[in-house]
Amino acid sequence: MEKKLIITVDGPAGSGKSTVSRILAERISYMYLDTGLLYRAIAYRAMQHGISIADDEALRELCDNITIPLEMGGDMRVLIDGEDVSDNVRTEEIGMLASSVSAVPAVRDALLPLQRSAGKYGGIVTEGRDMGTVVFPNADVKFFLDADVGERARRRYAQLVENGGNANIDEVKRGLELRDYRDTNRAVAPLKPADDSSVIDTTGIDIEGVVKMMVVIVKERAKEVGIQSR
Ligand code: DC
Repeated sequence: MEKKLIITVDGPAGSGKSTVSRILAERISYMYLDTGLLYRAIAYRAMQHGISIADDEALRELCDNITIPLEMGGDMRVLIDGEDVSDNVRTEEIGMLASSVSAVPAVRDALLPLQRSAGKYGGIVTEGRDMGTVVFPNADVKFFLDADVGERARRRYAQLVENGGNANIDEVKRGLELRDYRDTNRAVAPLKPADDSSVIDTTGIDIEGVVKMMVVIVKERAKEVGIQSR
Protein backbone atom coordinates (compact mmCIF):
# COMPACT_ATOMS: atom_id res chain seq x y z
CA MET A 1 0.00 0.00 0.00
CA GLU A 2 1.30 3.46 -0.84
CA LYS A 3 2.51 5.49 2.11
CA LYS A 4 0.22 8.35 3.02
CA LEU A 5 1.12 11.37 5.05
CA ILE A 6 0.16 12.34 8.57
CA ILE A 7 -0.61 16.06 8.58
CA THR A 8 -1.07 17.89 11.88
CA VAL A 9 -2.74 21.26 12.40
CA ASP A 10 -2.51 22.94 15.81
CA GLY A 11 -3.52 26.38 16.94
CA PRO A 12 -5.69 28.41 19.31
CA ALA A 13 -9.49 28.58 19.27
CA GLY A 14 -10.82 30.57 16.33
CA SER A 15 -7.62 30.36 14.28
CA GLY A 16 -9.64 28.73 11.49
CA LYS A 17 -7.98 25.36 11.90
CA SER A 18 -11.17 23.24 11.88
CA THR A 19 -12.47 24.77 8.67
CA VAL A 20 -9.21 24.66 6.78
CA SER A 21 -8.29 21.19 8.05
CA ARG A 22 -11.62 19.79 6.86
CA ILE A 23 -11.27 21.42 3.45
CA LEU A 24 -7.62 20.36 3.12
CA ALA A 25 -8.57 16.75 3.95
CA GLU A 26 -11.35 16.79 1.36
CA ARG A 27 -9.10 18.28 -1.28
CA ILE A 28 -6.41 15.65 -0.94
CA SER A 29 -8.85 12.79 -0.13
CA TYR A 30 -7.55 12.26 3.40
CA MET A 31 -9.48 11.52 6.61
CA TYR A 32 -10.14 14.40 8.97
CA LEU A 33 -9.71 14.05 12.74
CA ASP A 34 -10.97 16.90 14.95
CA THR A 35 -9.55 16.04 18.37
CA GLY A 36 -11.25 19.00 20.08
CA LEU A 37 -14.46 17.08 19.53
CA LEU A 38 -13.20 14.27 21.80
CA TYR A 39 -12.53 16.67 24.68
CA ARG A 40 -15.88 18.34 24.02
CA ALA A 41 -17.69 14.99 24.21
CA ILE A 42 -16.06 14.20 27.57
CA ALA A 43 -16.93 17.67 28.89
CA TYR A 44 -20.53 17.30 27.73
CA ARG A 45 -21.03 13.91 29.37
CA ALA A 46 -19.26 15.01 32.55
CA MET A 47 -21.62 17.98 32.74
CA GLN A 48 -24.70 15.80 32.13
CA HIS A 49 -23.67 13.28 34.79
CA GLY A 50 -22.33 15.84 37.29
CA ILE A 51 -18.82 14.35 37.13
CA SER A 52 -16.18 16.55 38.72
CA ILE A 53 -12.89 17.24 36.92
CA ALA A 54 -11.19 15.89 40.05
CA ASP A 55 -12.73 12.44 39.49
CA ASP A 56 -10.02 10.79 37.35
CA GLU A 57 -11.67 7.35 37.44
CA ALA A 58 -15.06 8.51 36.17
CA LEU A 59 -13.46 10.69 33.49
CA ARG A 60 -11.27 7.82 32.32
CA GLU A 61 -14.33 5.63 32.02
CA LEU A 62 -15.99 8.24 29.78
CA CYS A 63 -12.88 8.24 27.57
CA ASP A 64 -13.10 4.44 27.24
CA ASN A 65 -16.63 4.79 25.87
CA ILE A 66 -15.82 7.17 23.04
CA THR A 67 -15.92 5.98 19.44
CA ILE A 68 -15.12 7.92 16.28
CA PRO A 69 -16.49 6.46 13.05
CA LEU A 70 -13.97 8.10 10.69
CA GLU A 71 -15.25 8.53 7.16
CA MET A 72 -13.92 10.30 4.14
CA GLY A 73 -15.33 13.79 3.67
CA GLY A 74 -17.64 16.01 5.70
CA ASP A 75 -17.69 16.74 9.41
CA MET A 76 -16.30 14.31 11.93
CA ARG A 77 -18.75 12.63 14.31
CA VAL A 78 -18.18 11.51 17.88
CA LEU A 79 -20.15 8.90 19.84
CA ILE A 80 -20.10 8.42 23.56
CA ASP A 81 -21.79 5.30 25.01
CA GLY A 82 -23.02 4.75 21.45
CA GLU A 83 -24.86 8.09 21.32
CA ASP A 84 -23.88 10.60 18.64
CA VAL A 85 -23.33 13.85 20.58
CA SER A 86 -21.57 15.75 17.79
CA ASP A 87 -24.33 18.31 17.38
CA ASN A 88 -24.62 19.00 21.11
CA VAL A 89 -21.02 19.91 21.83
CA ARG A 90 -20.09 22.72 19.44
CA THR A 91 -21.07 25.53 21.83
CA GLU A 92 -18.90 28.12 23.63
CA GLU A 93 -19.97 26.73 27.01
CA ILE A 94 -18.82 23.21 26.15
CA GLY A 95 -15.63 24.62 24.59
CA MET A 96 -14.76 26.24 27.92
CA LEU A 97 -15.54 23.06 29.87
CA ALA A 98 -13.51 21.05 27.36
CA SER A 99 -10.57 23.34 28.03
CA SER A 100 -10.77 22.44 31.76
CA VAL A 101 -11.28 18.73 31.18
CA SER A 102 -8.40 18.64 28.71
CA ALA A 103 -5.95 19.83 31.38
CA VAL A 104 -6.57 16.62 33.37
CA PRO A 105 -3.60 14.28 32.75
CA ALA A 106 -5.78 11.13 33.11
CA VAL A 107 -8.02 12.34 30.28
CA ARG A 108 -5.11 13.15 27.97
CA ASP A 109 -3.53 9.74 28.67
CA ALA A 110 -6.78 7.91 28.03
CA LEU A 111 -7.44 9.66 24.71
CA LEU A 112 -3.93 9.19 23.35
CA PRO A 113 -4.30 5.61 21.98
CA LEU A 114 -7.60 6.45 20.27
CA GLN A 115 -6.00 9.39 18.45
CA ARG A 116 -2.88 7.46 17.51
CA SER A 117 -4.82 4.50 16.20
CA ALA A 118 -6.86 6.84 13.98
CA GLY A 119 -3.59 7.94 12.37
CA LYS A 120 -1.79 4.62 12.17
CA TYR A 121 -2.19 4.19 8.39
CA GLY A 122 -1.52 7.87 7.62
CA GLY A 123 -3.73 9.59 5.08
CA ILE A 124 -5.07 11.88 7.77
CA VAL A 125 -5.32 15.57 8.62
CA THR A 126 -5.51 15.78 12.38
CA GLU A 127 -6.34 18.96 14.22
CA GLY A 128 -6.05 20.13 17.85
CA ARG A 129 -3.58 21.66 20.32
CA ASP A 130 -0.89 18.98 20.71
CA MET A 131 -1.03 17.05 17.44
CA GLY A 132 2.47 17.94 16.27
CA THR A 133 4.07 18.03 19.71
CA VAL A 134 2.66 15.00 21.57
CA VAL A 135 0.22 12.83 19.63
CA PHE A 136 2.06 12.65 16.29
CA PRO A 137 5.60 13.94 16.95
CA ASN A 138 6.81 12.15 13.80
CA ALA A 139 4.11 13.58 11.51
CA ASP A 140 5.19 14.29 7.93
CA VAL A 141 3.77 17.81 7.77
CA LYS A 142 3.02 20.05 10.74
CA PHE A 143 1.13 23.32 10.67
CA PHE A 144 0.50 25.84 13.42
CA LEU A 145 -2.24 28.34 12.62
CA ASP A 146 -2.59 31.57 14.53
CA ALA A 147 -4.44 34.86 14.13
CA ASP A 148 -4.89 38.10 15.98
CA VAL A 149 -7.37 37.58 18.87
CA GLY A 150 -9.65 40.39 17.61
CA GLU A 151 -10.00 38.66 14.26
CA ARG A 152 -10.53 35.27 15.88
CA ALA A 153 -13.31 36.78 18.00
CA ARG A 154 -14.97 38.30 14.90
CA ARG A 155 -14.85 34.95 13.09
CA ARG A 156 -16.25 33.04 16.04
CA TYR A 157 -18.96 35.66 16.62
CA ALA A 158 -20.02 35.46 12.95
CA GLN A 159 -20.17 31.67 13.20
CA LEU A 160 -22.34 31.79 16.35
CA VAL A 161 -24.73 34.32 14.80
CA GLU A 162 -24.94 32.28 11.60
CA ASN A 163 -25.89 29.22 13.65
CA GLY A 164 -28.75 31.22 15.17
CA GLY A 165 -27.00 31.80 18.52
CA ASN A 166 -27.16 34.85 20.73
CA ALA A 167 -23.66 36.26 21.06
CA ASN A 168 -21.81 39.33 22.30
CA ILE A 169 -18.49 39.96 20.57
CA ASP A 170 -16.70 41.26 23.69
CA GLU A 171 -17.75 38.17 25.63
CA VAL A 172 -16.62 35.93 22.77
CA LYS A 173 -13.22 37.69 22.80
CA ARG A 174 -12.86 37.35 26.58
CA GLY A 175 -13.78 33.66 26.31
CA LEU A 176 -11.12 33.07 23.65
CA GLU A 177 -8.48 34.87 25.72
CA LEU A 178 -9.30 32.79 28.78
CA ARG A 179 -9.25 29.55 26.79
CA ASP A 180 -5.94 30.53 25.13
CA TYR A 181 -4.46 31.24 28.54
CA ARG A 182 -5.56 27.90 29.97
CA ASP A 183 -4.61 25.84 26.92
CA THR A 184 -1.17 27.48 26.70
CA ASN A 185 -0.27 27.38 30.37
CA ARG A 186 -1.40 23.91 31.45
CA ALA A 187 1.27 21.51 32.68
CA VAL A 188 0.49 18.65 30.27
CA ALA A 189 0.63 18.99 26.46
CA PRO A 190 0.23 22.78 26.38
CA LEU A 191 -0.66 24.56 23.16
CA LYS A 192 2.55 25.51 21.35
CA PRO A 193 3.98 25.16 17.85
CA ALA A 194 6.15 22.10 17.26
CA ASP A 195 9.73 23.16 16.45
CA ASP A 196 9.38 21.73 12.95
CA SER A 197 5.96 23.22 12.16
CA SER A 198 5.06 25.72 9.43
CA VAL A 199 3.50 28.63 11.28
CA ILE A 200 0.79 30.46 9.34
CA ASP A 201 -0.69 33.71 10.64
CA THR A 202 -4.17 33.67 9.10
CA THR A 203 -5.02 37.27 10.08
CA GLY A 204 -6.36 38.94 6.95
CA ILE A 205 -6.16 35.77 4.83
CA ASP A 206 -9.38 34.07 3.75
CA ILE A 207 -10.02 30.34 4.11
CA GLU A 208 -9.21 29.53 0.50
CA GLY A 209 -5.94 31.46 0.76
CA VAL A 210 -4.85 29.47 3.82
CA VAL A 211 -5.84 26.14 2.25
CA LYS A 212 -3.85 26.96 -0.88
CA MET A 213 -0.74 27.74 1.18
CA MET A 214 -1.13 24.43 2.99
CA VAL A 215 -1.64 22.42 -0.20
CA VAL A 216 1.62 23.82 -1.61
CA ILE A 217 3.54 22.72 1.50
CA VAL A 218 1.87 19.28 1.54
CA LYS A 219 2.68 18.66 -2.13
CA GLU A 220 6.31 19.65 -1.61
CA ARG A 221 6.58 17.25 1.29
CA ALA A 222 4.85 14.46 -0.64
CA LYS A 223 7.38 14.88 -3.43
CA GLU A 224 10.26 14.79 -0.92
CA VAL A 225 9.10 11.49 0.51
CA GLY A 226 8.38 10.13 -2.95
CA ILE A 227 4.63 9.72 -2.88
CA GLN A 228 1.85 10.73 -5.24
CA SER A 229 -0.52 13.45 -4.12
CA ARG A 230 -3.56 14.85 -5.83
O1 DC B 1 -10.57 22.90 19.14
P1 DC B 1 -11.73 22.98 20.12
O2 DC B 1 -12.20 24.38 20.37
O3 DC B 1 -12.86 22.11 19.71
O4 DC B 1 -11.16 22.39 21.49
C1 DC B 1 -11.87 22.45 22.71
C2 DC B 1 -10.89 22.37 23.87
O5 DC B 1 -10.31 21.07 23.89
C3 DC B 1 -9.71 23.33 23.80
O6 DC B 1 -9.97 24.55 24.45
C4 DC B 1 -8.57 22.58 24.42
C5 DC B 1 -8.95 21.14 24.27
N1 DC B 1 -8.12 20.42 23.29
C6 DC B 1 -6.91 19.94 23.72
O7 DC B 1 -6.52 20.19 24.85
N2 DC B 1 -6.13 19.21 22.88
C7 DC B 1 -6.52 18.95 21.64
N3 DC B 1 -5.75 18.20 20.87
C8 DC B 1 -7.75 19.44 21.16
C9 DC B 1 -8.53 20.21 22.02
